[in-house]
Amino acid sequence: MQTHPDFPNLYILSHPLIQHKLSHMRDRDRSTMGFRSLLKEIALLMGYEITRDLPMTTERIQTPLAEMDAPVLAGKKLAIVPILRAGLGMAQGLHELVPSAREGHIGLYRDHETKQPVEYLVKLPEPEGRVFVLVDPMLATGNSAAYACDVLNRHGVEDRNIRFMALVAAPEGVRVFQKTHPDVAVYTAALDSHLDENAYIVPGLGDAGDRMFGTK
Ligand code: URA
Repeated sequence: MQTHPDFPNLYILSHPLIQHKLSHMRDRDRSTMGFRSLLKEIALLMGYEITRDLPMTTERIQTPLAEMDAPVLAGKKLAIVPILRAGLGMAQGLHELVPSAREGHIGLYRDHETKQPVEYLVKLPEPEGRVFVLVDPMLATGNSAAYACDVLNRHGVEDRNIRFMALVAAPEGVRVFQKTHPDVAVYTAALDSHLDENAYIVPGLGDAGDRMFGTK
């Protein structure tokens, strides 16, 4: 896991398997099916890294040979919250890693005139004592990510209990996000160059939702 001198809360997951799979996803000739399964696989690998420091406790159990205090996760079940719709593919990979996790959803669209995110669906699990993993493959302008954190804050989730997971991030988005929610740790597989005039990440991978669902 790498850190970046300009972004204290950014963690770049540089594991060779993650990087290899991401390169395949970026390829414009990758099929919809290939794109979707790679996204799920990367989310699982990233999930392994971002859950490294989850709080632990012990449970008294009986093995076939002896009693022991066995380590188990402490507190309530993890909450996975995809930002619709592109976040769904990553949430699937995280669920394979933590099958007992709860899943919330935040649906946002961009108002054409104001260019600001507007929410159309918010369904979230009980916040108390839970770590929330907010997922969206592309951290582009950072506006949706920051807005989704605002939604979680309003729901009673503090920033220190939120982790944001993106596949690819742009410096512009990380900057906005860290200005508005500096206590949220941001995990990404790659920090790309910049945003183009249409707010697409360059080199990026195009529209993640369209590539995942085969839409235009
Ligand atoms: N959303 C996407 O799907 N791709 C980008 O490059 C930026 C935002």
